[in-house]
Formats: sequence, structure tokens, C-alpha cells
Amino acid sequence: MIEPRDDLTLGKLSLTYRVLFTGFLLVIGLGLCMAGAQIMLTHGKADGKAGLSMDDIVYSYYGNRSGSKLESALTGKMKDKAPADVNFMLIKWVREDAPAAEWSKVGPLLEKHCANCHDSESGLPEVAKLEVAKGMAEIDHGASIASLTRVSHIHLFGISFIFLFVGWIFGMAEFDQRWKVILISTPFAFLVLDVASWWLTKFWPECAWFTMIGGLGYSLAAMVMFATSFAQMWLPRWTKK
Ligand code: HEC
Repeated sequence: MIEPRDDLTLGKLSLTYRVLFTGFLLVIGLGLCMAGAQIMLTHGKADGKAGLSMDDIVYSYYGNRSGSKLESALTGKMKDKAPADVNFMLIKWVREDAPAAEWSKVGPLLEKHCANCHDSESGLPEVAKLEVAKGMAEIDHGASIASLTRVSHIHLFGISFIFLFVGWIFGMAEFDQRWKVILISTPFAFLVLDVASWWLTKFWPECAWFTMIGGLGYSLAAMVMFATSFAQMWLPRWTKK
């Protein structure tokens, strides 16, 4: 087993570099917490319930193909906004792929029962407008290929740099060599798994598990590397050798 060169261990670094690395790790740590919060606030709410669940991941990438947004609203939260017979007509229109030809019948109903809340000031979708209603009547196919491509390349480029530096710093820790190699490579492997899982989930919703595993995997590896690096840079046990 090759041990790290003595002059390269974290405890022996000059104050300058310990402060530099600590600052970097703290800010990156804060960034990772924000990333976690961001996931909870966007994907976490995809199924309408707080907290991240498998359904959230499936809805985000695969979509909710059991029906359109408009239909789930009309059978769910918005069920009591219009009388049952009106509701029925609206759902029928949605199921028939929202034909524009029937807008003269459907438009006024939406205007009457929905537009008082769903107006331009509310921030809610203006369901009494044909384009909006038509858009919401389409089956939700989840993330588009274009958005997946965009988010994937940003993640792969950006996060690999984070883990390059986190791994570089942790590489100077005194740690069992085998575990060190495993911990340094884990985030890269899970990063690829995570990004791959979005694409897989887009087509096969069962793959949402990989997204969970990928995210947990690199969070855990990052936590071990952060804690070890901080401890060895600042605790006397390592700095006073
Ligand atoms: C009393 C006010 C009110 C009325 C009337 C109302 N809505 Fe809503 N609607 C809301 C609010 C508030 C939300 C957001 C609620 C939420 O997400 O928990 C909402 C959400 C929705 C959504 C989901 C929006 C999204 O972005 O996912 C749809 C679709 C919808 N309404 C359709 C309708 C339709 C169709 C009608 C008429 C039959 C209607 N609403 C009548 C207040 C109203």
C-alpha cells in the first residue's frame, strides 16, 4: 500500500492552505445543502405532497401519463369549482384532445367557473384562454429531451469539478488507502448513475430508484470526505504529529 507522502498530509499543511481548503469546503457544503433544498422545493412538490418521493421523480421525468393536468385538476382539487354537469363536459372536452372547434361551448364555461380565480393577476394558469387550456389538456410527458440535455451537461461539467477539488483535498488525508480510492471514485460513479437515471426514468418510470440511489450515494461519500478533511486539518490529533 502506498501511503501519502508525509509532507502532503492535511494536518501538516500550512495555515494558508488549511484556510483556503476549509473555506472552499464550507462554501461547497452550503451549496450542496441549497441544492438539496432546491430539489425538495421543485421536484419534491411534483406530486402535490411535501417531501421527495418516488412519485415526484416519476412525475418530473416520466410525467403523469394517467391524464392531463386539466383532467387531474377537474377530478381532484378543482372538482367542486363547477357543477357536476359542467365538470363532466369539461372532462369530456379534455379527453377528446381539446378540439378548438368546441371552444365556443367550453370557453364560456371556463370563463364563468374558473376565470374569477384563474385571471392574469393571480399567477395561476389562465385556463379560460384557449392556448392555456389546450396546453394543460395534453398528457404530461415529463421532462423534455431538450431540458434533460441541458440539465445533464450542466450537472456533469459542474459537479465533476466540485468533486475533483473535494477529492483532491481528501486525497491528502491519512486514510486507509483502499477506502480512499473508493470514496474518491464514488461521487463520479454516482454522478453518472444519477444523470443516466433521469434519462432512463423518462422512458421507464421504474428507474426512479436509480435517481434516489445516485443522490444518496454521492451525498454520503461527500459527507465522509468533508468530515475527514475538516477533522484532519484542524484537530490536534492530526496537526500535532
Ligand atoms: C376559488 C378559486 C378557484 C377557482 C374558482 C378555480 N380554481 Fe383552479 N386553482 C385555484 C388555486 C388556488 C390553485 C392552486 C392550488 C394548488 O396548487 O394547491 C388552482 C389550481 C388549478 C390547476 C392546477 C394548476 C397547475 O399549475 O398545476 C388547474 C388545472 C386548475 N386550477 C383548473 C381550474 C378549473 C378548470 C377551474 C374551473 C372549473 C378552476 N380551476 C377553478 C383556484 C381556483
